Amino acid sequence: MTAQDRHLRAEERLGTVGVAHRPVGKREATRANLAWWDADADDYQATHGDFLGDAEFVWCPEGLRESEIGLLGDVRGARIAEIGCGQAACSRWLASAGAYPVGLDLSGGMLRHASNANARTGVDIPLIQASAEDLPLAAGSVDAACSAFGAIPFVSSLETVFGEVRRVLRPGGAWIFAVTHPMRWIFSDDPGPNGLTAIQPYFDRTPYVEIDASGEATYVEYHRTLGDYVRAFAATGLVLDDLIEPEWPEGHTRVWGQWSPLRGKLFPGTAIFVTHREK
Ligand SMILES: C[S@@+](CC[C@H](N)C(=O)[O-])C[C@H]1O[C@@H](n2cnc3c(N)ncnc32)[C@H](O)[C@@H]1O
Repeated sequence: MTAQDRHLRAEERLGTVGVAHRPVGKREATRANLAWWDADADDYQATHGDFLGDAEFVWCPEGLRESEIGLLGDVRGARIAEIGCGQAACSRWLASAGAYPVGLDLSGGMLRHASNANARTGVDIPLIQASAEDLPLAAGSVDAACSAFGAIPFVSSLETVFGEVRRVLRPGGAWIFAVTHPMRWIFSDDPGPNGLTAIQPYFDRTPYVEIDASGEATYVEYHRTLGDYVRAFAATGLVLDDLIEPEWPEGHTRVWGQWSPLRGKLFPGTAIFVTHREK
């Protein structure tokens, strides 16, 4: 199944009939994305499960692994929250490296795959169903937080998520997350030559919304510019240490949705923000 087929199947299940660009608040976005990720969970796992592995920490479609880049440093003994963990492969890798991870995700469907993979591997990560906007963790209770494409594109307020992450981090703790590189917003989600032409303004933050016949959102994705991220860090007491833009590796041929060798060789597809909580 291609990622395109996968998307179409979830759309069918949810009765999606079209696309709108309009503002969407927290309640509608949460409802739509919970339904979306539940509807898509099995197909997501069928499409990407092999690439992501059962206990691997893959940051992005470019295939960059935490075992190569070590952004979280020495994780032995560290309490780490994985936000938007999906099937929680990253958390199981962290456990195998000596950390004490907890995986959090909005979608029960995605967490079912995490739970199955816990049973399959014998690496039993604690899992919590929760939104990144309301983390059910105590203040200062984790040494680090991370996310590989989880939650952030789907929430209406960056400041709310960053504020929550800051609250649960101990002072100095790292918050490192991967998202679609903001410059990708200007192109269509086409991995081929049509995806090389700019079609929409980088500065237009109006969310991408898929809707059902009654106009209700069935999928919502938010766009933020690089400057928006920097300002949200500053507003929530997070310090930006680095911005990693993984390059497309030689010989890597896997197409993941809009990520392809063709586009990856020309411009970045992923942004990994490396931040920490002020002391
Ligand atoms: C693209 S998947 C990434 C999953 C996993 N990190 C991976 O690498 O495969 C996005 C995940 O974010 C989760 N998600 C979406 N909105 C969320 C929210 N508000 N809070 C927590 N998780 C959310 C989805 O349920 C889904 O599991």
